Amino acid sequence: MKFLVITYGCQMNVRDSEAVSALLMRQGYVCAEGEADADVIVINTCSVRGKAEAKALGKLGLLVADSRRNHPDRVVGVMGCMVQRLGPALFEKVPGLGFGIGTQAMSRLPLVLQEVFEGKAPVLDVGDGDDAEALTGHVEGHLSAFVNILLGCDRRCTYCIVPHVRGREWSRPAESVVDEVRELVGQGVREVTLLGQSVMNYGRRNPVWPEGSTSAGGYETPFPRLLEAVDAVVGIERVRFTSGHPSGCTPELVRAMAELPTVCEHLHLPCQSGSDPILERMRRGYTVDQFRQAARVLQAAVPGVALSTDIIVGFPGETEEDFERTRAFMEEIGFDNAFIFKYSPRSGTPAAEWDDDVSDEEKMRRNQVLLEDQTRRVEAINKALVGQRVNVLVEGPSLRNAARWSGRSRTNKVVVFEPIPGVERGDCVELLVERVTATTLYAVGSVRGA
Ligand code: 5AD
Ligand code: SF4
Repeated sequence: MKFLVITYGCQMNVRDSEAVSALLMRQGYVCAEGEADADVIVINTCSVRGKAEAKALGKLGLLVADSRRNHPDRVVGVMGCMVQRLGPALFEKVPGLGFGIGTQAMSRLPLVLQEVFEGKAPVLDVGDGDDAEALTGHVEGHLSAFVNILLGCDRRCTYCIVPHVRGREWSRPAESVVDEVRELVGQGVREVTLLGQSVMNYGRRNPVWPEGSTSAGGYETPFPRLLEAVDAVVGIERVRFTSGHPSGCTPELVRAMAELPTVCEHLHLPCQSGSDPILERMRRGYTVDQFRQAARVLQAAVPGVALSTDIIVGFPGETEEDFERTRAFMEEIGFDNAFIFKYSPRSGTPAAEWDDDVSDEEKMRRNQVLLEDQTRRVEAINKALVGQRVNVLVEGPSLRNAARWSGRSRTNKVVVFEPIPGVERGDCVELLVERVTATTLYAVGSVRGA
């Protein structure tokens, strides 16, 4: 049996797709080369914006139609956030689906498939009680891996569907996380990214679940302690984590980022808006000034730190003035990278009850303006790196031009360089930046530059 997993959405989805792939491979399934030779196709979905769902639904419609015509025995199923959000309505939207698996049921994919093969399609499992510790498998061969540490989300940002579809926050035991990292290093992984919606909340007491049970107590390892434990794993070269929140930028966390050698000078710190009234209505839990303080402390303690962010444009009631404040704030902080999203009302969230009063054209314009600012800003940031040394995790021949090699800096920038004798994939080397674009640093072996 050959399977294919197609992923939409965030890094957590990328991680979930990998974990279910590893699970299926352990059951004897083989990875298909593409859609044409797949007996089972699973689409992993995202609900964060309407467009992400529309894309997945469109793709599913095409796949089901193609399967009916050309691969009558093929099973097409869906997993993840959209399944959790839509439940049985999913099967009305896309008749012919084999199964749907929610965000808390992914480890039961092999069982669900079994039921489908027994003729029970469509099978829906949006139940909870999934065991996160059953989803720790990885597909071998990568230098860099994602590791879930905190599932779910306890924040209540007024625009966001994630808490509805991903459930309560749940910290995995620190020992399991460290074991997973150790195993990854054994498979050749050099860099891990620790994942959580609000990753710095890691280690708070877990909810007692199921109700009344004492077995599911808390794992109270504060996040900076977990970073120390992961940093101490022999052979790990780089540690990253995402996503951050200003409230988590405590002195302990900043110290851990400054002092732990493997922890990279890079943090994704979603800001969403640079205007206080908007932040308040988003219920983000910080003011512009609090965000500014967090960023300044990090920038002072971690020289060269690259901060990236998420911004929503066109949130209900966002005026031109609010938008201009966001624009100025992004410049003030000097974000190294920014993901800009047009606000999309998600039914069931508080903001969806408010008038979506910024027109789509205006959202598009604001999006474009911020993107152009960002390109200009990162060009300037990169220019300042010319003549400096960067540490590069070597990935091997570049995809575009195999005569050149590429890798990533600790700040997560793509670095392109001529192959260097004796330097292999997986090595970390110091290179000298010679020229830059907004997306790439071009570097040479530091010997030549020394
Ligand atoms: N509309 C637009 N963007 C959203 N995001 C989350 N919810 C919405 C929404 N309803 C963005 C936020 C978040 C990122 C993952 O997606 O910027 O940080
Ligand atoms: Fe990830 Fe959120 Fe999209 Fe779910 S809804 S896939 S958690 S971005």
